[in-house]
Amino acid sequence: MDWHAGQPDDELLHKIRAATPLMWYNTQLLPARSALKRLPLGRSEIDDAAARLARFAPLLSQLFPDTQPNDGIIESPLRPAPALARALELEFRLPFTPRIALKCDNELPVAGSIKARGGVYEVLCLAEQAAIDAAILPADLDSADYRILNRDRAHQLFSRHTITVASTGNLGLSVGITGRALGFKVEVHMSHDARAWKKRLLRERGAAVVEHRGDYSTAVAAARRASAACSGSHFVDDERSEQLFLGYSVAALRLNDQLAALDDAAQKPKCNAYLPCGVGGGPGGVAFGLKHVLGDRVRCYFAEPTHAPCFLLAMLSGTADLHVSDYGLDGLTAADGLAVGMPSPLVLPMMRHLLDGCYTCTDQQLMRLTYLLWETEGVRAEPSAAAALAGPLMPASRSQGAAPPSAAPQALHLCWLTGGAMLPEPDFYAILEKGQQVR
Ligand SMILES: Cc1ncc(COP(=O)(O)O)c(C=O)c1O
Repeated sequence: MDWHAGQPDDELLHKIRAATPLMWYNTQLLPARSALKRLPLGRSEIDDAAARLARFAPLLSQLFPDTQPNDGIIESPLRPAPALARALELEFRLPFTPRIALKCDNELPVAGSIKARGGVYEVLCLAEQAAIDAAILPADLDSADYRILNRDRAHQLFSRHTITVASTGNLGLSVGITGRALGFKVEVHMSHDARAWKKRLLRERGAAVVEHRGDYSTAVAAARRASAACSGSHFVDDERSEQLFLGYSVAALRLNDQLAALDDAAQKPKCNAYLPCGVGGGPGGVAFGLKHVLGDRVRCYFAEPTHAPCFLLAMLSGTADLHVSDYGLDGLTAADGLAVGMPSPLVLPMMRHLLDGCYTCTDQQLMRLTYLLWETEGVRAEPSAAAALAGPLMPASRSQGAAPPSAAPQALHLCWLTGGAMLPEPDFYAILEKGQQVR
């Protein structure tokens, strides 16, 4: 990588080391068209991924009844959130009521998080290729009925393959649930942050769960080694997988229609997308898709916990070869999905000129925002997802007068709720209680 952003300036670095919440704007941002032209992946790959998901839709509809209302397409609603917007305006003294829309990936079928996009997609790629190799699927895939993959012969074929993945929880759920539904053996390596209920659910579905005492990066390294040592194992590489990345990107194709339904299509308002970030694959794939579909109409910001801002540090220093502990940070956060110390070396270079900025939030803010979301809109999100709700509070959103168009009152704040609908009641109420107490 020939990208030497140099060391971040002292003041910024001091704030990051002190775990102070902040917003950072990318000085290397380019117009979407020029930034996208430089990337190794393009629109045709997003379209291919969408076509593959459409081919699998009848099978998914059979395997996962919660996809049936959408005919087997794994998609989430976009909802305006006026009550939340008013609550944020009052509590954080905003100069105007922001226009907020919630992209409800917390309600995605199959696995209840954004990981149901990338994780499911990669398992489907693997299943399709194995079925083609075994001549279960014909050469002309467009005419094939993929429900054949829910028969004994395909299950027997898949049972000879192992899928290995490391996860802070949600990726493991999406890969584990889908892999097991098709008959694959699945081994999920979990970091210490992973919640007990996610491990329990995976075991119930027949996945092997390997627990690690270390952080997420340790679990990824262990899973990579375990997979390499096991013949016939496919490693879902959260740090480097193009398939995961493309699975996430498809969200943007469908969002365009949802935005048009929300607004007078002719108006095409500017929009700020706030994307919770761990290793960077989910938000990176979505940002890549959004810039393809909406161009410079959309600004994309990654949201990270103050204790684990690995992507921000990587954007600043121009290298993915870092760990937040190099900056004196412990990586510990209530946002378990974002508890990641090292960023994706695949996604970082793609975001160099494409990403508008990053911001960080404290655990207290995440608890408070989770609480406010529930109180005002009745929406259940996990603290990782609530990082998206801090976006409308950031300085650019609050500025007036000579502010950029995306900071104007009519701009749409698109908060990507990345997970939470599957949270068990006791876990959710414990979070709400903490959030209620924050002042
Ligand atoms: C709820 C939630 N939001 C956001 C993310 C971030 O995704 P990524 O690690 O691909 O950046 C995760 C990752 O597991 C997650 O579980």
